[in-house]
Amino acid sequence: MIKISSPSIGDEEVKAVTEVLRSGYLAYGPVAKEFEREFAKYIGVKHALAVVNGTIAIYAALKALGIGPGDEVVVPDFTFFATASMVVATGARPVFADIELTTYGMDPSSLEKVISERTKAVIVVHLYGHPARFDELAGIAREAGAYVIEDCAQAHGAEYHGKKVGSLGDVSAFSFYATKNMTMGEGGAVLTDNDEVAERVELLRNHGQVGRYNHVTIGWNFRITNIQAAIGLAQLRKLDRMNDRRREIARRYDEELSLIDALRTPSEAPWARHVYHLYTVWVEREEDRDKLAEYLRSKGIQAAVHYPKPLHLQQALAEYSRPGCCPVAEAASRHVLSLPMHPLLTDEEVEAVIRAVKEFFSKK
Ligand SMILES: Cc1ncc(COP(=O)(O)O)c(C=O)c1O
Repeated sequence: MIKISSPSIGDEEVKAVTEVLRSGYLAYGPVAKEFEREFAKYIGVKHALAVVNGTIAIYAALKALGIGPGDEVVVPDFTFFATASMVVATGARPVFADIELTTYGMDPSSLEKVISERTKAVIVVHLYGHPARFDELAGIAREAGAYVIEDCAQAHGAEYHGKKVGSLGDVSAFSFYATKNMTMGEGGAVLTDNDEVAERVELLRNHGQVGRYNHVTIGWNFRITNIQAAIGLAQLRKLDRMNDRRREIARRYDEELSLIDALRTPSEAPWARHVYHLYTVWVEREEDRDKLAEYLRSKGIQAAVHYPKPLHLQQALAEYSRPGCCPVAEAASRHVLSLPMHPLLTDEEVEAVIRAVKEFFSKK
């Protein structure tokens, strides 16, 4: 089976975890702090606060900005559920903006239409590993007095005009889930240059505690362990190499698959460094998409749809839905298909994927 994604775990992670286990210091401690320092430096921000997962990173970012009941937060309609569900978790209202097809990120013209004086923040998602049109989106948000949060769960190491995503907005959220460009198994981080925001995230993730057993506010336990951080540190040290391999695979896919008229390969804007968390093609004929996925599976090749339903059509978010708000997101949900993409794919596996996709279309 050629897997669509796979963590890239080697001796370095095994060694790092073993060291932590032997140290006897398993919970949040020096290794976690070292991870935070190194990750903040890598992205180019002042503070990184590691938390249990990317979902909670978004929640903590929103809460630290003071977002809650009565506020609106604009999110792209085409992203993973957590981007919007965490807005709801704060008591605020998610407002869906449509996406555009070159970046699969939020469309600035759609943001213009939905932003209002109630908008407290805009969550910019760098989907599939390609940066969204940050300056245009942030310009609109800032004009309306709204914060900009980056959801970087799929974009570790991606660059926008030479700057790492995660360093562009007021605060950003990362995920280190097992399939991400770098992983801890489960994990997340909130990044910011703002000392106050960092302080609030610190309180939220650790029982509102200032000094031992002194609680100044209500907080939770969102901490990671040294064990997770040890994996994260080893992964961070090889992130650029892993992303380079993803990009190499993408170039090979591009070379061959862009010759097929029946599909569109992902684009990389001149101002962007795409890190191909996913390699997602657009299948021109809607009716071919699921058939291609089925054909690939019959050849032992995994393929998946990210995402089969735009957020405004999710039952859980029905009360925030505005029918017809997001035609491009709706079309994307019917046309996109993600092919195998991870650093452990061999050249032979990449060629096998290319061959199978070509075969499918040559039989039509
Ligand atoms: C765009 C996006 N946002 C948020 C998340 C949530 O991250 P996690 O799975 O670590 O909670 C994910 C991960 O699946 C994601 O892809």
